[in-house]
Amino acid sequence: MIAAIIQARMGSSRLPGKVLADIGGHPMLWHVVRRILRCRTIDQIVVATTTNEQDKPIESFCEKEGILCVRGPEQDVLERYYQAVILVKADVVVRITADCPFIDPEVVDRVVDAFSSTSGCDYASNTLHYTYPDGLDVEVFSSVALATAQKQAQSPLEREHVTPYLRTATKAGKPLFAIINVENKEAAVPVKLRLTVDEQADLDFARLVYERLGTKNPFFGLREVLFLLQQEPELMEVNHNIMKNEGLYKSLLSEKPVEARKLSLHNSLALKAKAEKLIPSCSQTFSKGPSQFVQGVAPVYLERGEKAHVWDVDGNEYVDTVLALAPIILGYCDPCVDGAVQEQLKNGVSFSLPHRLEIEVAEKLVAMIPCAEMVRFGKNGSDATSGAIRAVRAYTGREMVACCGYHGWQDWYIGTTTRNGGVPVSTRAMTKTFVYNDIDSLKSLFFQYPGQIAAVIMEPISVEKPRDNFLAEVKEVAHAHGALLIFDEVVTGFRLAKGGAQEYFGVIPDLACFGKAMANGFPLSAIVGSKEIMRIFDEIFFSFTFGGEALSLAAARATIETFLEKDVIGVLWEQGERLQEGFNVLAKGLGLAQYMSCKGLPPRTIIDITAPDEIDPLLLKAILQQEMVRRGVLWAGYHNVCFSMTEADVMCILRAYRAALPVVKQAIESGNPEKYLLGARLQPVFRKV
Ligand SMILES: Cc1ncc(COP(=O)(O)O)c(C=O)c1O
Repeated sequence: MIAAIIQARMGSSRLPGKVLADIGGHPMLWHVVRRILRCRTIDQIVVATTTNEQDKPIESFCEKEGILCVRGPEQDVLERYYQAVILVKADVVVRITADCPFIDPEVVDRVVDAFSSTSGCDYASNTLHYTYPDGLDVEVFSSVALATAQKQAQSPLEREHVTPYLRTATKAGKPLFAIINVENKEAAVPVKLRLTVDEQADLDFARLVYERLGTKNPFFGLREVLFLLQQEPELMEVNHNIMKNEGLYKSLLSEKPVEARKLSLHNSLALKAKAEKLIPSCSQTFSKGPSQFVQGVAPVYLERGEKAHVWDVDGNEYVDTVLALAPIILGYCDPCVDGAVQEQLKNGVSFSLPHRLEIEVAEKLVAMIPCAEMVRFGKNGSDATSGAIRAVRAYTGREMVACCGYHGWQDWYIGTTTRNGGVPVSTRAMTKTFVYNDIDSLKSLFFQYPGQIAAVIMEPISVEKPRDNFLAEVKEVAHAHGALLIFDEVVTGFRLAKGGAQEYFGVIPDLACFGKAMANGFPLSAIVGSKEIMRIFDEIFFSFTFGGEALSLAAARATIETFLEKDVIGVLWEQGERLQEGFNVLAKGLGLAQYMSCKGLPPRTIIDITAPDEIDPLLLKAILQQEMVRRGVLWAGYHNVCFSMTEADVMCILRAYRAALPVVKQAIESGNPEKYLLGARLQPVFRKV
């Protein structure tokens, strides 16, 4: 017996009384119930409301409509579901919320069918990865799984939101329940579209749509809504700014903060002691070295990784938000990528002549990246940016460069920073910086150095979003002065969109540099661009022994194929958004919003820290890192997300914040924040000038 249980209450904090609010002449709950009645797969409908007096009207509504109604505790919605299941003796439960007046019976049936036809399935939903709009949410689970959750789920969040336990519970590191996601394989859904009702703006939107579609047929489906929005896309402006899961994140605030773990770091410290005698700075990469992690608290050496998790040399496990500084885009040890590498390994790694993989990967990049007509490969991002700079200098016959962002370790760029030791003064003078979103700062460089600037190289976005058509303006200004535009997509590539930031923002540069994520952790970078400009590589010297190394190219081919086959980008945006919104809700709820916020586009966000005047922000960052690490999250001030990061991982990170942020707050308020730091302070990468 399959029962749809519709949870409903009058006491919404953001929009009280919403479930009985009028939409097109009927209460919202009427629409939900009538729509569910049209489902082919549902045998019984139950409305589950609270025992509060203010929910009496919901019971009366049910009596009038002839619908079963159960009443239970307000916050313990899981208990309400359990009571409803016992009452109607359901084998399978379909969870629907009464704030979804557009719920589509076809979609409900599709999720129920997927549940029923998947043997051993405990939980099926279309919300594990959103391919349907928010508001068409369907969750289907067995009453047996529900009974387990009823017994085991402890936290207020798990009780209030019913299914987090089913979605995220693990045993020995593996999911406890067999869960599946049901994807929308039909029409593409605009990201902005919200069909749920959390706030007044959502209700306004619902009324507008019902006004247009509901008079002919109050049971119109997703298809009709999408058709309408094609004609009137401006309707979505009414409510697109509202956060998706605010209620869930707020519930974290009422949870007991997770305790800090006591980590053994014995092996890490022993290795570090050895390295100190052998390896200056103990690391090959500045941002992975001991100066960037609180020594004495954070691990120094990692041993292995799997999906979004890493284990240090002492066996401590972490959810990794650093992900090797962003190359891990699918997850550690991705079976497809590693399988492709193992296959290639049987045939060889580096050869005496070029390998066909160079052509295969180049073809894929040309197909995927808007500005790419030809490709040259390198190993690190710095190879790509420095190769691009040599190319534009040769192509234009000019020597100076304007840059904005970080572009790697080579002289031409690092000479602009405070770590410019060893870079000749004459080289430093050739690169000038300009300020993001300040077009005048770029114009004034062209004014100061007329006819001398070969190219503008920039990260299309780092944290701040482009304002006032900034990227297009940069391109126009550069071209107007005879200079080329290079996008440094080492971070944005294979992250914001399949074709990188140039595709996402719709501004196509002359050349672009990729690296980091393109081979899921294997060392590969690329310069791509128009044939006309790329032909200059025939003339200049851009050549190194390992340029065509085959394992990384095999890894890139498999990584790109995964990007093409699966919605990698969609997942990066979704998990990144959960982290960003979750962090910001927690920071606000814990009274830290004036000091900390999570900024940037969801696939890569950073925690922006503005400490009170007398406190060094780096000290607060260190305290936050310390508290995150002690709660099982490897953290360095930003969120790099990967395709295999699960909802359980995201919740683990948010729970760590929920416990760590109050410590930062105490540190700020104590007047003596130093005393909260249990290890060594962090060092700035570049000094403030
Ligand atoms: C935007 C950007 N460009 C270039 C580079 C340099 O790449 P690599 O460190 O692989 O040389 C980086 C590295 O972090 C980067 O973030």
